[in-house]
Amino acid sequence: MRALLLYLAHREGFKHFMLKFEVFRKLAWRFVAGETLDDAMRVVTEANRQAVRGTLDLLGENTVSLDDARGATREIIRILDRIRSEHVDCNVSVKPTQLGLNLGREHCLGNLSSIVAHARQLGNFVRVDMEDSGYTEKTLDVVRRVHAEMDNVGAVIQSYLYRSENDARALVKEGIRIRLCKGAYLEPDTVAFRKKADTDASFMRIMKLLLDSGLYHAIATHDEAIIAATREHSESRRIPRDGFEFQLLYGIRRDLQQELARDGYNVRIYIPYGGRWYPYLMRRLAERPANLAFMARNIFRG
Ligand code: FDA
Repeated sequence: MRALLLYLAHREGFKHFMLKFEVFRKLAWRFVAGETLDDAMRVVTEANRQAVRGTLDLLGENTVSLDDARGATREIIRILDRIRSEHVDCNVSVKPTQLGLNLGREHCLGNLSSIVAHARQLGNFVRVDMEDSGYTEKTLDVVRRVHAEMDNVGAVIQSYLYRSENDARALVKEGIRIRLCKGAYLEPDTVAFRKKADTDASFMRIMKLLLDSGLYHAIATHDEAIIAATREHSESRRIPRDGFEFQLLYGIRRDLQQELARDGYNVRIYIPYGGRWYPYLMRRLAERPANLAFMARNIFRG
């Protein structure tokens, strides 16, 4: 089921079919903050009120033209200005193929550099999301090149990839801040663990090496066992609660977000917004087939 949903995430025909269903569009608003920056800013403000930080994601990936990539760059710069003018505690997350990585590495490098330079002037931070494994090497290369000039940029490591433990070690040595997640794309077993238990074990190993590094990293998961292990490890090593942050996705486990914030941890939620939500929603459905069952029941009820 997971593989099928992730395959359908890139099928335009299926997208047009699904968009006919009101319940599918409604389901999107559980995971997406809205269509506009105003909608997203309202969510950030509410999160801040609950002592939770935000990271805003303008939805969009696999851009089809350089103009689109430049347009996304301008919009992300506008988000940074808005964060500043509204004095909210929030940074931005960007997708490399939204900035043109699929059209050529240099385009992405130029666009990302403009965003990071602008964020630096405003005292803010830019996280570069990780997409499928076809882009891992190029994404890390672009992050490293930008980081060599400006240190307010960070990478994402996916624990399901065999290579990730080595990547994490190397990035930490270079002083690059990491968000650790499990990974959300369809990957062959030549590059990624098949079994959830192996992905989870890899997450645990990388989590420990990140926490022990002394840099400020992000542990991004809703997995209660992993969150408990992270808390335990940080306590056993006397790592202060504000020495790293937990990150969770908008619309998932709000109770857990608030519990962690109440316990004195830094918590940040990933807040996507915009019209291009279809592939993002399909990845969230693939993570939890129960979401799909809910939708199917509503469709067949008419
Ligand atoms: P797991 O899938 O084992 O889920 C643990 C529990 O969380 C479930 O039992 C359920 O209760 C809840 N849960 C998880 N997903 C849910 C869903 N969709 N709906 C309802 N409940 C759900 N991936 C990537 O490849 N590149 C990236 O850049 C990022 N960035 C990113 C940022 C942040 C802040 C987060 C939290 C996650 C990402 N991800 C990501 C996604 C990540 O790789 C992964 O797919 C999801 O976080 C789900 O995995 P969990 O770690 O939550 O564990």
